[in-house]
Amino acid sequence: MTTYVVLNQKGGVGKTTLAANLAAVFASAIAPVGDDDTDSPVLLASIDPQGSAVWWAERAAELPFRFSAVNQEGILPRVPSLPGVEHVFIDTPGWIGDTQDYASEGLAGRLLDEALSIADMAIVPITPEALSFDPTARTIRDLLEPRGIPFKVVVNQWDPRDGDRDLNQTRDFVNRSGWPLSHAVIRRYKVHSHAAAKGQVVTDYPDNKVSVRAVRDFEQLALALKVGA
Ligand SMILES: Nc1ncnc2c1ncn2[C@@H]1O[C@H](COP(=O)(O)OP(=O)(O)O)[C@@H](O)[C@H]1O
Ligand SMILES: [Mg+2]
Repeated sequence: MTTYVVLNQKGGVGKTTLAANLAAVFASAIAPVGDDDTDSPVLLASIDPQGSAVWWAERAAELPFRFSAVNQEGILPRVPSLPGVEHVFIDTPGWIGDTQDYASEGLAGRLLDEALSIADMAIVPITPEALSFDPTARTIRDLLEPRGIPFKVVVNQWDPRDGDRDLNQTRDFVNRSGWPLSHAVIRRYKVHSHAAAKGQVVTDYPDNKVSVRAVRDFEQLALALKVGA
């Protein structure tokens, strides 16, 4: 079993979007879309109490993966022994203030601690804007590096119409910081935010030109995670 935790203390960078859509792409690679989700080998777990993932799951008529909203301690540590689950994605909340306080105090901090203790790898979404640099740095330095958890930074919400400047600045920042950066970039497409509002994941997108690009970004990210690129 491989467990990925998706985290960044900054809200709105795409934690929920990445966690849910990676789960969808992994699930569709393993089992035909439309298969019964109850015994899917892919699990999306959300430890976000105001979870948009929870909200999403309520709206999704048929998610192609198992979904679990985790709001008490002791559940995540049992995940690695769940029969039939091969890939786990954990969606986490953003938070303000001191990172270490967050991780050491309160239920949210203890759940995050449990998530990190079962994580094989962390996925850290970053948006191509200077505002997300500091929170990303704190997330990595305070939570991931001390625990020695391997991670990948993934640029999300890059709008190709804005040109390469912001993307390159973000890549430079990540490279200068010495962090592993995924070559796969998730572009900004309205279809993603519209889909979230409708409770859809990428594998539900209509078959048109833009959707195909939007889906391909997630397929490439999934592939990059599998081959370690
Ligand atoms: N690649 C993208 N393209 C378009 N909209 C996106 C993309 N990624 C995220 N969004 C939208 O941005 C908002 C914040 O994303 P979300 O995944 O909820 O972030 P987080 O979980 O980190 O707070 C949501 O409305 C979501 O639909
Ligand atoms: Mg979220």
